[in-house]
Amino acid sequence: STELNRHSPPQTSRLTPQLWQLLTTASQAAEKRGWHLYLVGGAVRDLLLAEATAGTLMITDIDLVVDGFHKSADVGAGVELAKALQEMYPAARLEIHGAFQTAALLWHKDPDLDSLWVDIATARTEFYPYPAANPEVEASSIRQDLYRRDFTINALALRLTPPRAGELLDFFGGLLDLKAKQIRVLHANSFIEDPTRIYRGVRFAVRLGFAIEPRTEEYIRYAINSGVYDRTAQTNTKTPALQTRLKTELKHILEAPYWRSALQLLDDLGALQCIHPTLKLDSELTRQLRLLERCLRRFDPQQNLIHWQMRLEAIIAHLAPTHRGKVAKNLQLQEDSIKHLQNLATAKTEIIGSLLKYQHHSQVVKLLRNYDLEILILIALQSQQKIRRQIWNYLTVLTNIQPILNGNDLKKLGYKPSPQYKQMLDDLLAGTLDGDITNQREAEEFLAKQYPK
Ligand code: CTP
Repeated sequence: STELNRHSPPQTSRLTPQLWQLLTTASQAAEKRGWHLYLVGGAVRDLLLAEATAGTLMITDIDLVVDGFHKSADVGAGVELAKALQEMYPAARLEIHGAFQTAALLWHKDPDLDSLWVDIATARTEFYPYPAANPEVEASSIRQDLYRRDFTINALALRLTPPRAGELLDFFGGLLDLKAKQIRVLHANSFIEDPTRIYRGVRFAVRLGFAIEPRTEEYIRYAINSGVYDRTAQTNTKTPALQTRLKTELKHILEAPYWRSALQLLDDLGALQCIHPTLKLDSELTRQLRLLERCLRRFDPQQNLIHWQMRLEAIIAHLAPTHRGKVAKNLQLQEDSIKHLQNLATAKTEIIGSLLKYQHHSQVVKLLRNYDLEILILIALQSQQKIRRQIWNYLTVLTNIQPILNGNDLKKLGYKPSPQYKQMLDDLLAGTLDGDITNQREAEEFLAKQYPK
């Protein structure tokens, strides 16, 4: 339905008083200038979804849309409103994006507002004066703004300015879809225009426990079959913005607790093709990802590695070696991620070939200490059990073994400090690793023999 449905206001009392105060201040500032102000997007959706639950809703992202005309051609009403608010809230940082359309106010660990990000956009794209009191003009302009959005449940607006402050604007049946628990797109071309919306749809579906509405699923499949991934996966310098958005979506998905179900749904829809046309979540990749989780729990309990990034690296590593570096570059992964993926095939051949031959722990250590933890994990995931155990053993045991003597001890034994120390300590370590040196006496005997004074 494209009709404007008016509903009773959602329980804005669920917001913290400080946030509610901020919205009230913003709405008064807008009203004073003869503008309309709306709360839109995720916050409205989450407020409505939270009606059945108790407690205060923690909202960290707020999207506001101002519908108003600003007399200066190079300042949008949104920017003007953001500036006015920043004067009243000096703790906020002001960011202005694009030529003049959107602004953001950011609070970081504020005593009242905690960490909060408020985006303020301007609804009107045509900048001419119009009678603000004319309800038809007003309705068409906020409606247009909402129509550009992804899903019906994200296209609800809550009017903050009078008259009818608190009114919910639902042009596209978003409230019904919230009740029916479904993700429905606003128009047939949505995924063609922005393929990352496929990933967003999946994310919302899995996160909220919603279904993707059948027609919407058809549109997704149609977009994929018509090759939207040519624009994302294959390319090309023309779509860096799209690639960045895809990476952002992948990050959101892969760092969420529900990442496995989301990946499965993406695969069911054929949407992994947006990363690369040959990418499939087959049983081998599923096995490797399960192994990766065990491995991250064991080797990285402090979370020094970036876990979502490791998951993405493992996924890309599942592609044929020739595709890996390109996909990683397209997605603009960090330099070291790109390097891991580019070097994986060569490193894997070298490591597996050597580990199969080696008899001594010292050989294993000398080889593996040249590699990052990340690349060792990626290789272990892809290797047979025998190799994997050797890598695990290196990471958990061998890497912690120290030579029995240190540089100070060498000095006490009367060796003159010199670059040779490194070689001596290395030899001591090798002897220790291989079980030839088990105590201080054996260490000293070893030195006396190998490095006579
Ligand atoms: N949006 C869109 N298409 C995109 C990205 C965003 O239409 N590719 C719109 C959606 O309507 C969304 C709004 O922009 O509600 C704000 O985007 P974002 O903050 O990413 O989404 P939220 O809905 O707030 O989701 P979340 O709860 O995950 O922050």
